[in-house]
Amino acid sequence: MCGIVGYVGKRPVVDILIRGLRALEYRGYDSAGIAIFKDRKIEIRKSEGRLENVEKLLREKINFFSDSTCGIGHTRWATHGKPTSQNAHPHKTGHIVLVHNGIIENYIEIKRELMSRGHLPLSETDSELFGFLVLEEMEKGFNLVDSVRKSFLQLKGQSSVVVISEREPGVIVGVRNGSPLVVALDPEGGVILASDAQPLIPYNSEVIFLEHGDLIIGTAEGLKIFDLETGSAVVRPVVRLDWTLEKLDKGRFPHYMLKEIFEQPEVLVETLNGILDRTQSQPYAFSEQPGVKILDQAIEFIFVACGTSWHAALLGKYWIERRAQVSVSVELASEFRYCQPVLRPGVVVVGISQSGETADTLAVLREMRRKGISTLGISNVRGSSISREADAVFYTFAGPEIGVAATKTFTAQMLVLYLISGYLSNQRKVKNLDASSETFAGVIKLPQLLSESLQPNSKMMKQIYNTAMSLTKVRGFFFIGRGYSFPMALEGALKLKEIAYEYAEGYAAGELKHGPIAMIDKGMVVIVLAPRDSWRDKTVSNLEEVKARGAIIVGVGDSDDEDLKMLCDYWIPIAAENRSIDSDLLPFFLAPVVQLLSYYRAVLKGTDVDKPRNLAKSVTVE
Ligand code: M6R
Repeated sequence: MCGIVGYVGKRPVVDILIRGLRALEYRGYDSAGIAIFKDRKIEIRKSEGRLENVEKLLREKINFFSDSTCGIGHTRWATHGKPTSQNAHPHKTGHIVLVHNGIIENYIEIKRELMSRGHLPLSETDSELFGFLVLEEMEKGFNLVDSVRKSFLQLKGQSSVVVISEREPGVIVGVRNGSPLVVALDPEGGVILASDAQPLIPYNSEVIFLEHGDLIIGTAEGLKIFDLETGSAVVRPVVRLDWTLEKLDKGRFPHYMLKEIFEQPEVLVETLNGILDRTQSQPYAFSEQPGVKILDQAIEFIFVACGTSWHAALLGKYWIERRAQVSVSVELASEFRYCQPVLRPGVVVVGISQSGETADTLAVLREMRRKGISTLGISNVRGSSISREADAVFYTFAGPEIGVAATKTFTAQMLVLYLISGYLSNQRKVKNLDASSETFAGVIKLPQLLSESLQPNSKMMKQIYNTAMSLTKVRGFFFIGRGYSFPMALEGALKLKEIAYEYAEGYAAGELKHGPIAMIDKGMVVIVLAPRDSWRDKTVSNLEEVKARGAIIVGVGDSDDEDLKMLCDYWIPIAAENRSIDSDLLPFFLAPVVQLLSYYRAVLKGTDVDKPRNLAKSVTVE
């Protein structure tokens, strides 16, 4: 995790670094820091805690850096060493200053050797050690670039590093090996680089996603890219991003998370447009998607993912098995990568990850590739590692998601999986279900219906707010559901833990009596997800069981389901219009309910909604 930003060029650098770090804070916010050339010296300002602390330090001498045009910055998610100022990046070793993202796996060995040569690291981090290696090489007479290259080749693990030296002002050297780095030219002269594309967009929307083993040199004159191993020059494609500054802004919303929840209808439209070729009369005629051939050949699928993406994968399994009758297993990437899975001929392994950078999911795809297994990726980020590792990728079109809690990217993943299930069903001529042109018509209506449900004065919205605000003196929450509502129950509980720090569990409703029901008493809230689908009646029986044990019941169901409503203490109706669409699409309406419930609970508790404690958006360590 961690966020890196760097700039060299003609513009004042402080503003670029601070704005860049603000955009990258989702990657970690334990500490932050910047290093800036002031004349030929490098000045560092860093602090534990949020970026504001660094801004405060900068305000102390407001004009000090006004003529500085080269610097690097970092926002940290601690791995090695506590989140203290001492451990915050940038790290300075002699005339070398660096920021680092990733893990140096052989750091103990390197540290021992450095100490035996008389070096004394000041921090507990693995990152700082790299500075000593570069310093040693420069002392031997190598320039900064060669020293970084030689030093980097001694590291094990996945890292990106950006280095400057007081001996070579105006030069930034960066290496990408695993952890992402994106670069762009500043049209006014110079180079900006960062851990993702967002900090680059205000200056240039044409960016280069560096590849593993790329080394770059940035100066005010421009950019050069080399292969780390061979040292020879390489050319990387320039990608034009259609992200606007508006999409990176909170706009009228108090939090990114809320904005992103409300963006879901638009995201559905974008994803439909991005995936379906509506000019074809055939439903589910995928546009020129390179992954389609792999879908056609698949005999079975293994989905691997983490967190919310894993919940989307579970929904995908229900849809694909039910609608297309193709077998799907769903695995947690962190477990699957260390198992000995049985991989039958015809299996396709699908890595689902909004960021496209999640270390465990990425590792699985790499390993599968090594074994000659066909792979697909589903990702929201063009040029992300997963999109490069997989044989082909289906993109979601959610735009940048800044809140750490995944919301609109989840909905977009769901839609892609739903469309895949429809495509497979159609291709394989599965007759017993309704994945036909009518369902296609249903999915087209989704954005409009969802948008109606999300109107501020809709019954659903009012009830979500009232319910979240009324539940006081509560010991914890159980989300329960069956069928499609089971992954949604897991997602509801994850969200509530993640942003509101509430005790929450998600359970398949039928599983409660196998243990967890012992937890149910008067202080426990049970949120029952029971829209009118083929599982609804069974879920209602489970509701009766928890009600009998004194739980507070929050029911989520069809607005005309009076029977269900009567059993509940609180009632959240999902829009009546849902009836005109396939019950397979109900999860799209449950998603905002569980997201908003958690959001309002978090607001009630006063937590930092967009940057919940101990978390980061992009989990690039295992
Ligand atoms: O980028 P990914 O989709 O691979 O991320 C996986 C999880 O880390 C992520 O979904 C996480 O669970 C979310 N922050 C939950 O809201």
